[in-house]
Amino acid sequence: MQLPFHVKLVEVSPRDGLQNESSLIPLNIKLELIQRLAASGLTTIEATSFVSPKWVPQLADHAELFAALPKIEGISYPVLIPNIMGLTSALSVGVKEIAVFAAASETFSQKNINASIQESLARFAPVIVTAKEYGLRIRAYVSCVLGCPYEGKINPNKVLEVADVLYQMGCEEISLGDTIGVGTPLATGQLIRTVNKKIPLNALAMHFHDTYGQALANIYTSLQEGIATIDASVAGLGGCPYAPGAAGNVATEDVLYMLNGLGIETGVDINTLAKTGVWISDFLGHTSRSKAGLAIVRLCEER
Ligand code: HMG
Ligand code: MG
Repeated sequence: MQLPFHVKLVEVSPRDGLQNESSLIPLNIKLELIQRLAASGLTTIEATSFVSPKWVPQLADHAELFAALPKIEGISYPVLIPNIMGLTSALSVGVKEIAVFAAASETFSQKNINASIQESLARFAPVIVTAKEYGLRIRAYVSCVLGCPYEGKINPNKVLEVADVLYQMGCEEISLGDTIGVGTPLATGQLIRTVNKKIPLNALAMHFHDTYGQALANIYTSLQEGIATIDASVAGLGGCPYAPGAAGNVATEDVLYMLNGLGIETGVDINTLAKTGVWISDFLGHTSRSKAGLAIVRLCEER
């Protein structure tokens, strides 16, 4: 299949990236990160999660953060919603786009959201109905699509089953999460073809963590399969506190470098993004995981 002409990058660092950081990050740094990401040309920036602060203390400032975000025409700030309580709180601060999150693994579902897959889908049903009434855009994640930290291999048909229920409920976009980064290109291609039996490619996104260094190869395979929405996180920040062994997400700078090389348009400026990756990594006290980002910043400094 022909590669897409345009790819939509969904930047998840303020949520997936920061949720795994152990020391609390001040609100002004989170806001500056989002502002810098927007300045690089990213138009979809997952801002935070309206989850229980007991489960993810790092994002306990979700309402305050969202209320303080500069609302810019053309930029959307989706947020994660686990239940009606989260949705009510999100609506009160003017959220326009949400993401619910289920899993293809029973054990991960239980550990991550304290519910079986079935219970979680039943919990999301009223969230989705209410969100529709308010005219919100709704994305859904399915986690552990290529493997689970507790159950190992996951059958692609199970992913299809969960993804299809969410799609039928009215979620416009389904993001398939390789939560622990165990997927390889062959499995990625098989997964996409299986899920595409019921869900159109333009309603699918891919979300890779990069534990085994396979994320870029998996993304290239995804593009070949006709996927045109890719999740990524600046500097490769990320991980899930309830998925032991999960490394960061694929770095947005690395994905962008590859997309630029393929002549695929994104609207994002790689230099601004690379500087943002180094800036946030410096703040967090670790080296950026983006090889492209580090190389670009080094080159800029040498000039
Ligand atoms: P629970 O303990 O079963 O819920 O957690 P509960 O209803 O019994 O409530 C417990 C307490 O939390 C109560 O407070 C509630 O009020 C409060 P208390 O009475 O004890 O003082 N609470 C809330 N507070 C604020 N906002 C809320 C909310 N809900 C309850 N929305 C629950 C169930 C789903 C809430 C919990 O398990 C949870 O928040 N889990 C979130 C875990 C999480 O955020 N994981 C990471 C995101 S998923 C991910 O990273 C994967 C992804 O990136 C894709 C991929 O990589 O695969 C998306
Ligand atoms: Mg993730």
